[in-house]
Parts: sequence; C-alpha cells; structure tokens
Amino acid sequence: MNYKKNIIITGGLGLLGKALTIELANTGAHIIILDIKSKKEFNKINSFKKIKNNLSYFKCDVSNIKIVKKINIKLRNKFKKFDVLINAAAVTDAVEKSKSPKKSMFENYSINDWNKSILGNLNSMFVCSQVFGKIMSQSKKGSIINISSTYGIVGPDQSIYRDKKNKNIFFKSPSYPTCKGAVISFTKYLASYWGKRGIRVNCVSPGGIKDNQNKEFIKKYSAKTILGRMAETKDIVGIIRFLCSDDANYITGSNIVVDGGWTAI
Ligand SMILES: NC(=O)c1ccc[n+]([C@@H]2O[C@H](COP(=O)([O-])OP(=O)(O)OC[C@H]3O[C@@H](n4cnc5c(N)ncnc54)[C@H](O)[C@@H]3O)[C@@H](O)[C@H]2O)c1
Repeated sequence: MNYKKNIIITGGLGLLGKALTIELANTGAHIIILDIKSKKEFNKINSFKKIKNNLSYFKCDVSNIKIVKKINIKLRNKFKKFDVLINAAAVTDAVEKSKSPKKSMFENYSINDWNKSILGNLNSMFVCSQVFGKIMSQSKKGSIINISSTYGIVGPDQSIYRDKKNKNIFFKSPSYPTCKGAVISFTKYLASYWGKRGIRVNCVSPGGIKDNQNKEFIKKYSAKTILGRMAETKDIVGIIRFLCSDDANYITGSNIVVDGGWTAI
C-alpha cells in the first residue's frame, strides 16, 4: 500500500508517535513530526535513520496557536498540501513517570497541573485541527485522527496502581480522563462540522501500552483485559494506518477502541 500522502503527526517523538512514524513512512507517506522536544532528541532516534527521506521534523509547541500558525506557513510552502493530521501529542500521567502518590490524589491535585493537562491535551488538538484542518477543508479532502484512551470511556481503576502491600504508588489524575473523554466528543463535533467539506475525523482509543511500568502494574493491568496482556505499539498502529488510507473513506465520527477488551467487561 503506497499512500504518497503528507501526514502530520503531533507528538511524533513519543512512544506511540515513533511507532506510527515508522509504520506510515514505510507506506511511502511523508511524515511531518511536530513535537516540543529538541531537534537533538529527534536526531538520537536510530530507528528513524532508515526512513529519513520520508521524514521532516519541526520543534513546536502545538498548544500555542501563534507558533502553529507560523509553522503552518513554513509547511505549506514546503509541502503544499496536508492529507492527514494525527493528533497524538499529549501530557500523559503514567505510573512509570510517577513521583509522589500524595500529590496525585484528587484532594491534592493542583489547579496548575489540571490547567497544564487541559492545555497539553486539548488546546493542542483544537489548535492543530483548526490550523491544518482549514487547509484540508480548502482542498476538500483530508483525514484527522485523534488519540483518546480507554479512560475517555471508563473511569480509571485506581486499584491497579497499588503495590504488593495494597498501597497506591500513584493515582490516575482527574484531568487526563476528562481530556480523553473530551477528545471523543471533539471528534464527533469536528466530523459533523467538516463532513461536507470532505474531511473525515475519527478517534482511536488505545488501552495501556507496555513500556517501563513495574511488574506488579503490568500483572494487574493485564488481568483486567480479556486478552490478558497490555498493548504493544504494533497493536495500535495498524488501525491508524487504515484510517489514514482511502479504504476508510466512509468512516467518520467514530471512536475505535483498541484495548484488548478492557472496556468490554
Ligand atoms: N501510552 C499509553 O499507554 C497510552 C494509552 C492510551 C492512550 N494513549 C494516548 O496515546 C497518545 C500518545 O501517547 P504516548 O504514550 O506516545 O505519550 P508520550 O508521552 O510517550 O508522547 C507524547 C509526545 O507528545 C509530545 N508533546 C507533549 N506536549 C506537546 C506540545 N505542547 N507540543 C508538541 N509536542 C508535545 C511529547 O514531547 C511527547 O513526545 C496520547 O494521546 C496518549 O494519551 C497512550
């Protein structure tokens, strides 16, 4: 399958973003990564070396509309058209990144952290969809793919974040699931708004992806899924590849859940 598309991926230096970049570049698409991390971080990624001809990197805070508008001018001069926008940039609060269980409790969760999460998870999606989607609407064709989470559908089970002594080492924040629920609603709003302009807007809701989490967490998480394991990035990228393609031409406004059955039971 050779898509020959220009695909913007926000958060392309993240866990999922890197896997997506490789998968989609290998279809012949040109990938334009926008990420807040430095060019130095980008250059360190060895797995990008093989696909370097299909790859462009721009350091960019995608939640800042002024910066994104500036980048848009650069990108339009260079690439002329955008076929797909994948909104994968996020401020994730993950068990493997946790520092203080007390700070993550709802009672202590700071308004500052709440605002940062809304800015990083929602403003970025709004800004990029508005700026790049407008260009797609002018060419009357495009696909926007937003990444939500199972936590956009169900509440977090805080017990999976407990250690062997049954003490929480972390509490999933109130802001992350709130944002992820909003991503699904935003997807439906935009699909309905831009449908007649030929833009399809869909959402993918992955379950937890195995990374550097502790063994106890992986065991507890896996037991809550029907398939008995956490996701690998390769479990998620296929559906996104499909949504990028013309095979998905009649799919819009949908939320595709890829969670090993977590939300089915
Ligand atoms: N990892 C999981 O288990 C999991 C599960 C369900 C859903 N998701 C969702 O999948 C998507 C990708 O998650 P991930 O695990 O790859 O996250 P990650 O934290 O590994 O990557 C996120 C990337 O976004 C970038 N970023 C953050 N704020 C930015 C900004 N303002 N401007 C530009 N770049 C910015 C970061 O630099 C990082 O490279 C997210 O939407 C996340 O919520 C992840």
